[in-house]
Amino acid sequence: MICGGAAFGWRRFVSGETQMTDHQLPLTRTEGPRAFFGRRSGKKLHGGQKAVVDAALPELEIKLEGRLDPRVLFGDARRIVVEIGYGGGEHLARKAAEEPETGFIGCEVFTGGIGKMVQAIAEQELGNVRLFTDDALKLLVALPDACLDAVYLLYPDPWPKTRHHKRRFVSPTTLSELGRVIRPGGTFYFATDIEDYADWTLAHIVRSSAFEFLPERPGSWHEPYPGWQPTRYEQKARREGRMTSFYFSFPRKK
Ligand SMILES: C[S@@+](CC[C@H](N)C(=O)[O-])C[C@H]1O[C@@H](n2cnc3c(N)ncnc32)[C@H](O)[C@@H]1O
Repeated sequence: MICGGAAFGWRRFVSGETQMTDHQLPLTRTEGPRAFFGRRSGKKLHGGQKAVVDAALPELEIKLEGRLDPRVLFGDARRIVVEIGYGGGEHLARKAAEEPETGFIGCEVFTGGIGKMVQAIAEQELGNVRLFTDDALKLLVALPDACLDAVYLLYPDPWPKTRHHKRRFVSPTTLSELGRVIRPGGTFYFATDIEDYADWTLAHIVRSSAFEFLPERPGSWHEPYPGWQPTRYEQKARREGRMTSFYFSFPRKK
């Protein structure tokens, strides 16, 4: 049940005033739905960074060959958590350092971000992180049911133009996969500074059978997660004058 939902424009998506009912992710020619539409590479990695990546990435990278049991990656990890689109890796590296008994899978496609994360793992000697360097949806599809404790999607690409909304990571397809792989009682964390994407996501959550929206009180979704450290995109948003963010936590229904 929605609490304080009237503060949001999500109703216009639900009412059909703004179209979302038929929203499905575009299909690839051969591999089914895709959820990545951004750039894969930017500036070349500089010499030192490239050497670190070349040496360390093969050991860290998850190669999908059919189904993936994440327990095999982390041995006796107490919890398993995925971060989708970790960007420069600030949040992922900090969480991994704070929770050494949790296994973290970071998904990012942009080579500059992957380079930064590999460097952080090497410098901080993080032994509990593995990286997936392709579309996160492919990883979700390969995971078994109820194997994750939490998934973070922090400041996903907003795709502001209406004709590009279908590229947003939150969609019926991805929510159905997230609902399948997050265990009952686990959490899907979603943060954005873009109100329209917050509305969009709430409208999808309201329709999803897997997740709930149970804020402590109206407006509590503007309070950062406990121990939060701003990500690079949050800092960019603040510099550009977007001073408010939405920090949603959606429990997986039990
Ligand atoms: C706007 S940036 C935010 C980065 C970071 N979370 C932050 O807050 O600074 C979104 C990131 O998600 C990545 N991304 C988008 N779609 C993805 C997908 N389907 N799988 C993996 N990464 C994805 C992009 O490459 C980009 O680095």
